[in-house]
Amino acid sequence: MTRVLPEAVEARAARDYAIRRPEGPDRTLESAAILTAAKGCAGILCAAGDGLDAETIARLPDSVRIIATFSVGTDHIALDAAKARGVAVTNTPDVLSVATAEIAMLLILMCARRAGEAERMLRAREWTGWAPTQLMGVTLEGKRLGILGMGRIGQELARMARGMGMQIHYRNRTRLPPQEELGATFHGNDDSFLAACDVLSMHIPGGAATKNWLDAARIARLPRGAIVVNTGRGTTVDDGALCDALRSGHLRAAGLDVFAGEPAIFEGYHSAPNVTLLPHLGSATIETRDAMGFRCLDNLDAVLIHGTEPPHRAA
Ligand code: DGY
Repeated sequence: MTRVLPEAVEARAARDYAIRRPEGPDRTLESAAILTAAKGCAGILCAAGDGLDAETIARLPDSVRIIATFSVGTDHIALDAAKARGVAVTNTPDVLSVATAEIAMLLILMCARRAGEAERMLRAREWTGWAPTQLMGVTLEGKRLGILGMGRIGQELARMARGMGMQIHYRNRTRLPPQEELGATFHGNDDSFLAACDVLSMHIPGGAATKNWLDAARIARLPRGAIVVNTGRGTTVDDGALCDALRSGHLRAAGLDVFAGEPAIFEGYHSAPNVTLLPHLGSATIETRDAMGFRCLDNLDAVLIHGTEPPHRAA
């Protein structure tokens, strides 16, 4: 196990497995630490960001039969390399959809109502009293929410946003059937989608195919005053271009829960007042983290104890 997991998950893991852990603090692991800790292991329970690239996977001991990641995202694992070595890879879909959509909605609200700026003002003891034009934001009711990636998390966010009176637009590989679309407007191309986003919420996976998806050209197609929120993967945003657009006023605000190269954060964000920053909290509820851990253990049990197909195979 590369990380310390919630108590109930640790208890079940300790009941059923002999656990080996890397030495040192609980943090994202580099390849070398994973290889050292994996010696003699039948399975690896890792987490988002742990460095399981193709080279690391090629050097894993032959004893390793499964990599169960405590995440829905698998961009930190070279899936093809695992497949080639016959190592199963599993993830934790579904159980974090509501929690992650909640964080997206939290960021949307914080951006629209300038909650980050407001809180910082109070903590800095700079509030001089109520004023009619102080920290005016924008009302979300009636605004268009553009959801990039209408999977399980995107659909949960759409459900919440409908309750707030927002109009839902979405861009996805395929159009959803009407019973799942629930009146949302599908866009078959980026241009019409971006033009319809008063708020853009990004829910696409990381990896080479989506690197810097939100670049200067696409930002320019968003309406002036749009809000951008990202709870997917930080690599999908060109940080320099986003900071430029926030500084120029083309974008009203941005809310980010994920960062390229996290825990390091692009320098420009530190000084931009209209950015709300969260430390990758998407799935961070007790209920969700327990459920994610149990999914990992269900997958490990299937492969290592029961010799059956794991329920959540990603590769
Ligand atoms: C995931 O599951 O991929 C998240 O980023 C971590 O909760």
